[in-house]
Amino acid sequence: ARPAIGVDVGGTRVKAGVVDADGRVVERTEVDTPPLGTPEVLDVIGEVVETLAAGLPRSTRVGIGAAGFVDATRSTVLFAPHLPWRHEPLRDAVTRRTGRRVLVDNDANCAAWAEWRFGAAQNEPDLVCLTLGTGIGGAIVVDGRLHRGRWGVAGEFGHMQVVPDGRPCECGNRGCLEQYASGNALAYAARRAVADDLPLGRRLVEAAAPAAPGGATVGRLAAEGDADAVEVLAEVGRWLGVGLASLAAALDPGVFVVGGGVSVAGDLLLEPARETLRRTLTGRGYRPDARVVRAHLGNDAGLVGAADLARTRRRPVRSRR
Ligand code: BGC
Ligand code: NA
Ligand code: ZN
Repeated sequence: ARPAIGVDVGGTRVKAGVVDADGRVVERTEVDTPPLGTPEVLDVIGEVVETLAAGLPRSTRVGIGAAGFVDATRSTVLFAPHLPWRHEPLRDAVTRRTGRRVLVDNDANCAAWAEWRFGAAQNEPDLVCLTLGTGIGGAIVVDGRLHRGRWGVAGEFGHMQVVPDGRPCECGNRGCLEQYASGNALAYAARRAVADDLPLGRRLVEAAAPAAPGGATVGRLAAEGDADAVEVLAEVGRWLGVGLASLAAALDPGVFVVGGGVSVAGDLLLEPARETLRRTLTGRGYRPDARVVRAHLGNDAGLVGAADLARTRRRPVRSRR
């Protein structure tokens, strides 16, 4: 079967690749993201696609994963908490630049699709995926199909309120899960440890020098066995478990796939999450548990899923509503 092109547009890097029908990335390229919301970013996406498409048939499709709310026609980024995109007509802009059929989807939807087709959730057609990066992305696969909701924006788990009046979120609300269980949450803990001059704060500063410590520094120290850093990750994991318990109550998946940069912490994060899920799941002891597994496709999940969604897309059925 023909390959497709997948593009993962992040706040700092644009990652793209040619992906074959088995989900293998057969060619790839990566560039810095120009300031989002400028025409340059669209030019860069167009150029990246053209570079990869050289030698491929005109009909090669393009899928783009974007870190925001994508509308039901999979063309426009309606809103993005961490990016300046508001009603951004991404699909048409890239189509104009490349003359190819383009599809846009939410980055976490793309990752979930890749994990279901080729990664951690093969053989598990009812799954929920969370990507823990700067924020938290979410996606729901029901019976082997992405569940999008009426307007395309289902699965925004990062913005479920878990703490009334809690920490401010970039979406404009307060107390969102992504303020407690993402890379931002680790960075917040790092800043607090430094500001309060805790021993952990001093070790973080030293480990990150000359840069300022961030979430990744916490992860690194935890991996080296720093007990305080391990506890920070465990706290984030417990918050993740709180989210998983609510999601299990609402959606009853067979497996939770946890991806994104923070998930490289593995069981330091996932064991506390599983433990909280076991302790708080409604009906616990009388119902089968969902498994909680780490994503398999790492950094490639977004672009692999975007390409496969574009490749396998059928012509949309027009709604009669
Ligand atoms: C956004 C999602 C996105 C996620 C991960 C969240 O803050 O609302 O649309 O999928 O971050 O990038
Ligand atoms: Na999503
Ligand atoms: Zn929020």
